[in-house]
Amino acid sequence: MARIVAGIGSSHVPAIGAAIDNGKTEDPYWKRVFAGFEKSQAWMRELKPDVAIIVYNDHATAFSVEMIPTFALGCAADFPPADEGWGPRPVPVVEGYPALASHIAQSVILDEFDLTICNKMEVDHGMTVPMNLLFGKVDKNSHWPCPVIPLAVNVVMYPPPTGHRCYMLGKAIRRAVESYPEDLKVVIFGTGGLSHQISGPRAGLINSKWDKAFLDNLSKDPQKLVKIPHVDYMREAGAEGIEMVMWLIMRGALDDKVDEVYRFYTVPASNTAVGHIILANRPRAVRQRAPAHKAAKRATARKAKAPAKRAAARAKATLIRGR
Ligand code: DHB
Ligand code: FE
Repeated sequence: MARIVAGIGSSHVPAIGAAIDNGKTEDPYWKRVFAGFEKSQAWMRELKPDVAIIVYNDHATAFSVEMIPTFALGCAADFPPADEGWGPRPVPVVEGYPALASHIAQSVILDEFDLTICNKMEVDHGMTVPMNLLFGKVDKNSHWPCPVIPLAVNVVMYPPPTGHRCYMLGKAIRRAVESYPEDLKVVIFGTGGLSHQISGPRAGLINSKWDKAFLDNLSKDPQKLVKIPHVDYMREAGAEGIEMVMWLIMRGALDDKVDEVYRFYTVPASNTAVGHIILANRPRAVRQRAPAHKAAKRATARKAKAPAKRAAARAKATLIRGR
């Protein structure tokens, strides 16, 4: 059975991607941001997931504003980095996992969450920046460490999905993953945020108190977040703070009680509050199956003993009945 072992929340600030691509990660301004992800990269290297489901948003790159699906699942074999105005980022093509992706599509749609299926899709900074933050810099001609199933969520044009809908979709994704027969270690990312507003009179807005409470509740009491209406995100976390609803899909896919493995928060990067969290499902008590040869040996021994056992039981019954 495939299992979701951990959830990762990460901002996707495009300037972080530009800092990586232009060799600026050691500049004092950026060093502080990248330092916050060193432990996470070590954790990820050790975990070695078989596949990552990355919940992210497209910034009118793959979809344009003419056609915007609320939830779009990437079922393709690969997802090339998109040209966002400066040419595609020099990162590897993101390899997909079509077999698991189409299983998720079937399971989630039959579970009454109507996803759009994308068999061809380019991916923008919303996906490649969190991948760099968690997997490190990867040469364009090399490979990302694991295949990825992208789930694009509309948070760029009104109306985005509610936090509750996102949380419940996370639960449906978990059911889908757990009904996939192959043994796979799956991680799920929720990306975007934290508080930020890019344009208008409130451009540059950052609300660290709100962000911290969001991270606290994400870890300990997600039910509190599920009820937050869009207008509260907009007022408290800025217009683009609405990206945070995507973290609730990740949280919904985890156990109610999780272990917080790591957290990092810094302001600003570009105009944005950078937040990051790793939440792990607690290991479940799995009944160890005996290796096949031992199980077969035990079954043979049981069979051999059976006639003697039956004779003893008959003798005992005769004694009890007194005949
Ligand atoms: C910026 C763009 C984003 O999509 C985002 O989530 C944060 C910041 C930016 O242009 O700085
Ligand atoms: Fe964004």
